[in-house]
Amino acid sequence: MWTKKNIGDQTGKTVIVTGANTGIGYETALALFEAGAHVVLACRSERNAQDAEARLRTQGGKGTLETAILNLANLSAVSEFAHAFIQKHDKLDILINNAGVMTPPASKTDDGYELQFGVNFLGHYALTGHLYPLLNSTPGAATPGAATPGVATPGSRIVTVSSMAYLRGAIDFDNLRSEHSYDAFREYAQSKLADVLFSVELQRRIEAAGDQVISVAAQPGANKTDLSRFMSEAEYNAAIDRIGELMDPWQGALPSLYAAVAEDVQGGDFYSPDEPGGYRGYPAKLAIEPHGLDEAVASRLWEWAEKVTRVAYPRADS
Ligand SMILES: NC(=O)c1ccc[n+]([C@@H]2O[C@H](COP(=O)([O-])OP(=O)(O)OC[C@H]3O[C@@H](n4cnc5c(N)ncnc54)[C@H](OP(=O)(O)O)[C@@H]3O)[C@@H](O)[C@H]2O)c1
Repeated sequence: MWTKKNIGDQTGKTVIVTGANTGIGYETALALFEAGAHVVLACRSERNAQDAEARLRTQGGKGTLETAILNLANLSAVSEFAHAFIQKHDKLDILINNAGVMTPPASKTDDGYELQFGVNFLGHYALTGHLYPLLNSTPGAATPGAATPGVATPGSRIVTVSSMAYLRGAIDFDNLRSEHSYDAFREYAQSKLADVLFSVELQRRIEAAGDQVISVAAQPGANKTDLSRFMSEAEYNAAIDRIGELMDPWQGALPSLYAAVAEDVQGGDFYSPDEPGGYRGYPAKLAIEPHGLDEAVASRLWEWAEKVTRVAYPRADS
């Protein structure tokens, strides 16, 4: 069983965790802070970011912390966050695309995309692209305890947090701005399928460019977090009846942490809790279902995202 005790010393690594103020993101940040990393808490609200930083300091860690404001529902704000980060930092070892929103009332990002698709996928697509040159220029760190001690691991990692909801997702290219209809869970599942397609397509493109960065997907299983904030009591109870007991978020953070630091991770992998259904357990590699590996859909989604965000990567010269 892999737990955060298996995380090696992360001293010297710089990490961004989006949505780090609560839930899975908070526990991900805590574990990396405990392991010695410099953790940037990328949060939508300054107050929540500062509150999370204070709680993390109280819990304690041998790393360092920094807060930064990131609103994934606004592509200009995503660009501003990334450019401020690049001005301040000369390396980025791990980017964890964790922030997410689930089943809100019909709403849109500031740029007019359906909110879940816009935040969970499109904002992270743009964020990753703005930061890609820095990720790609960050040399692999010599990891203490590595299989071959002292040998540099490949370069930086991009971890994108999806959900088992991706299984029920489909990309409706004609409704990405909710032009025609809105179904809260359908759009959540679409956004989480987009996260899987994105993670795998990014890895394909990294390999084609000959870069050393790796792109990995993770999903946390079923956890007690604020993600259910938009569900009614009846919807929540029905979900618990279907899914069973929820995990505490420290456990749900383990697949993201495994993807971020474990030695045997390879680009294109997907990590999940290991019990059947993926709702509970400890991190294990999980096969992605065929619709998550559909190259034609992934490539169309990528080209669409590139066009609407005007963020193109990887580039051979980046
Ligand atoms: N909990 C589960 O059982 C479960 C299952 C499958 C997948 N997941 C995935 O795990 C990830 C983390 O979810 P969680 O369970 O930890 O949920 P959570 O407790 O609700 O945390 C979500 C985080 O995302 C942030 N966020 C939302 N909209 C944002 C925006 N526009 N810009 C920047 N940040 C934004 C939230 O900030 P605020 O606090 O300011 O709103 C919060 O920090 C999500 O990607 C979710 O889809 C969770």
